[in-house]
Amino acid sequence: MGSFLSKNEFPVDGRTVLITGGSSGLGLGAARQLAEKGANVIIVGRNESKLQKALTHIKEGAQSLDTQRFFYSVADVTKPLECQRVVSESKLWNHGAPPDVVWCCAGSAHPSLFIDTPLDQFQTMLDSNYLSCVYMAHATLNQWLRPASESAQSTAGETIEKKTRDLRPRHLIFTGSFVSFYSFAGFVPYSPSKAAVRALGDALSQEMNLYSSSSTHPAVRVHTVFPATMPTSGLDDENAVKTDLTKALEEGDQILSPEECARRAIAGLESGQELVPTSTIIRLVMASVLGGSVRGGFWTGLVNTVLGWITAVVMIFIRWDMDSKVAKWGREHGFSGMKKKD
Ligand SMILES: NC(=O)c1ccc[n+]([C@@H]2O[C@H](COP(=O)([O-])OP(=O)(O)OC[C@H]3O[C@@H](n4cnc5c(N)ncnc54)[C@H](OP(=O)(O)O)[C@@H]3O)[C@@H](O)[C@H]2O)c1
Repeated sequence: MGSFLSKNEFPVDGRTVLITGGSSGLGLGAARQLAEKGANVIIVGRNESKLQKALTHIKEGAQSLDTQRFFYSVADVTKPLECQRVVSESKLWNHGAPPDVVWCCAGSAHPSLFIDTPLDQFQTMLDSNYLSCVYMAHATLNQWLRPASESAQSTAGETIEKKTRDLRPRHLIFTGSFVSFYSFAGFVPYSPSKAAVRALGDALSQEMNLYSSSSTHPAVRVHTVFPATMPTSGLDDENAVKTDLTKALEEGDQILSPEECARRAIAGLESGQELVPTSTIIRLVMASVLGGSVRGGFWTGLVNTVLGWITAVVMIFIRWDMDSKVAKWGREHGFSGMKKKD
């Protein structure tokens, strides 16, 4: 919750949450914590035994096994038909109602130098990080919004439904990264896919206003969470291809456990943030590039704007420092991005 005075803008007790990538890392941390808050949880991933193990862990955190329900779906979210199947299956399992919250957390990174990156990795990055969000969002919003746009011809049946229905906002959540805001050497294959996720969230959040006049269907709130660096299996995969140069540029990054990162993300959602940074450095860099993005309520917006003025100046020096470091590295170690052996 934001504070004891503020309303929880992300209540999940008794509601159904679907998380792609819920079998590991941030997604698993979030799934467990939302189960602890009383949510029914659906997790999605490709590896069934990982999903089964994760579901056991999530259930152990449930408030009440008598009332809460848990489900997993094996799917590759880089495939549009798989995403449609996941949403339909979830609706069937959820007594005919689509999930109230869909969190697109699945993703991966291949941080290598541009000229050394196999060309198919650029497609893989877009599929894994950006298109997976597009496909899940498309399948979900078609479930959430189609009936709303048809409600002009409302029937007596719909009026009854309106009285009994949960009209609290539904939440669509994307997962970005620090590099959604600021990229650097070694992240060329990955960062455009995460910058695209931010743009997707920004544009969709504005488009949702089109449906805001519906009195019969819940509003849709779109959020993007920006996780800090977390020691997960995904980070191990990243580090296996990352150059020494990129590792050196990342030094000083704030590292959070996936559980702590999930806790901060959920706290941000509960306080009503649309863009949810999970560390101070991400908040600062985000503030420097907000442009027309939502800045939060009056006070948060004011703080973000002032931070933006300050960081806009600081970023001039950070960019100069990063450029100098990369040029120095090239002079000292050559062009492979790896440290010269003594
Ligand atoms: N770790 C970090 O430092 C870091 C930093 C910034 C942002 N992020 C972002 O945060 C999110 C979570 O990262 P993480 O490191 O916590 O994750 P992780 O531990 O690597 O787990 C990834 C999860 O996504 C699932 N997944 C991956 N590709 C999938 C696909 N095509 N279809 C269905 N499920 C898929 C995996 O299950 P299966 O393998 O079984 O499919 C797993 O459950 C990602 O979007 C990542 O880009 C991570």
